[in-house]
Amino acid sequence: VNNDNQILVIFGASGDLTARKLIPAIYNLYKKKYLPEKYAIVGVGRSAYDNDTFRKKAVFENEHLKKNGDDSLDEFAQLVHYHSMDTSDAEDYKKLAERLYSIDGYHGTNCNAIFYLSVPPSLYSVIPKHLASVGLNKETNGWTRVIIEKPFGYDLESARALNKSLLEDYHENQIYRIDHYLGKETVQNLLVTRFSNSIFEPLWNRNYIHRVEITSAESVGVEKRGGYYDGSGAMRDMVQNHLLQLIGLVAMEPPVKSDAHNIRNEKLKVFQSLRPMTKDDIRNDVVRGQYLASTIKGESVKGYREEEGVNPESRTETFVALKFFIDNWRWAGVPFYIRSGKKLPTRVSEVVIHFKPNHHHLFMNQTEVNAQNMLVIRIQPDEGILIKFGMKVPGAGFKVKNVNMDFQYSELTDAYVPDAYERLLLDCMQGDATLYARGDSVEAAWEFIDPILKAWKEDPTIPIYGYPAGTWGPENVDDLIEGKNMAWRYPC
Ligand code: BG6
Repeated sequence: VNNDNQILVIFGASGDLTARKLIPAIYNLYKKKYLPEKYAIVGVGRSAYDNDTFRKKAVFENEHLKKNGDDSLDEFAQLVHYHSMDTSDAEDYKKLAERLYSIDGYHGTNCNAIFYLSVPPSLYSVIPKHLASVGLNKETNGWTRVIIEKPFGYDLESARALNKSLLEDYHENQIYRIDHYLGKETVQNLLVTRFSNSIFEPLWNRNYIHRVEITSAESVGVEKRGGYYDGSGAMRDMVQNHLLQLIGLVAMEPPVKSDAHNIRNEKLKVFQSLRPMTKDDIRNDVVRGQYLASTIKGESVKGYREEEGVNPESRTETFVALKFFIDNWRWAGVPFYIRSGKKLPTRVSEVVIHFKPNHHHLFMNQTEVNAQNMLVIRIQPDEGILIKFGMKVPGAGFKVKNVNMDFQYSELTDAYVPDAYERLLLDCMQGDATLYARGDSVEAAWEFIDPILKAWKEDPTIPIYGYPAGTWGPENVDDLIEGKNMAWRYPC
């Protein structure tokens, strides 16, 4: 790995994401010798820590760092610095700039810097503006990149405004909009499955595919994030970003090359081809729900409206399922289904490709049992790929049974599967934005979602259904999938 020397500046250094994901990711890169020769991390926050206090908190006492008894922690901690400031105070940025120049001089990081915004969304345009006002956006001596956490915008209008504000001071190639789903190995493998095998891609279109289903289920509820979640909901929290990104990879045309420009161009075209939902579509093809108090394995579980930080009369959805179409040559007429929710029976994310049945059924019981082949790409957990196909039951006649052919990542005992943040941070260090969302495609994804959110807000007659915690969402979600013997896949 060939990286430029550089500084990583983390805004929101005392936050949960820094301890849980960012510092462990950098530490793993350090252990694998993926960091450049000269490297520094500067945590920025309001707390009045000094370097030592921050090192203790972020490194030595960080329960998320997987230390395996090695002695590299001391050396690693020396790369970590802390800078206390008020991110809303313009004056403080001058001091930040001085501090960075001094660390740069000391560590020899060639004025290359990544600014990671792990802060509330209200600061996503404020911090970059202030950085620019003291010249920290300039690429005169080295390069500058800004990583922005999700959610990128609250709706189409705010996403556009945020893009506009960022582009006043930065070039698109300096802006890295993170979507951690794109850092997952299994998500990247969607591209390899499609474009490095000759057996899937010829079938990957309306002629052979009956429907595509994407599920992202979580068994947890909103935990301690009720305050944030109540202003967001499943559509903004999961669908607009993570799940549409998956759709982009599943549905895109083969890119000319596997680089950021070409892959992101193809993804954009998918988002631009999403058929806009009419008022009737929103009413008929989108189901939203909210979990209710229930008993799971003998334990009583709170309903969403009883959760801390949640309005007791909240109409925020904790579950959403939708059916939609991609109006282009490849996918004309193929329904796509997305389903995501909290407090469902299990944690699972998967993409399921349902192939069309044979035109003519030759064998006994074929229609009921296995009229369809299925390819299941398991994103998490039990990461892997499964193909379901019909096989003759041994014995008399031609009885057909559905069987599995599967590959599990856990079989790759010699391969290290990095955490999504590790991969994404390394890519940003190297200036590779392939796995980050581009501004135009974030806006295109919002264009599709925005009318649904508006209709929900403006039309109180669109129902929100309750579902008992621990079940697969509102009962009528099954009605979205039409056709004999057709249903959602219910993985266990
Ligand atoms: C986050 C959402 O982006 O993704 C959370 O804000 C959700 O609500 C999480 O739980 C799911 O991520 P993962 O990697 O556990 O599937």
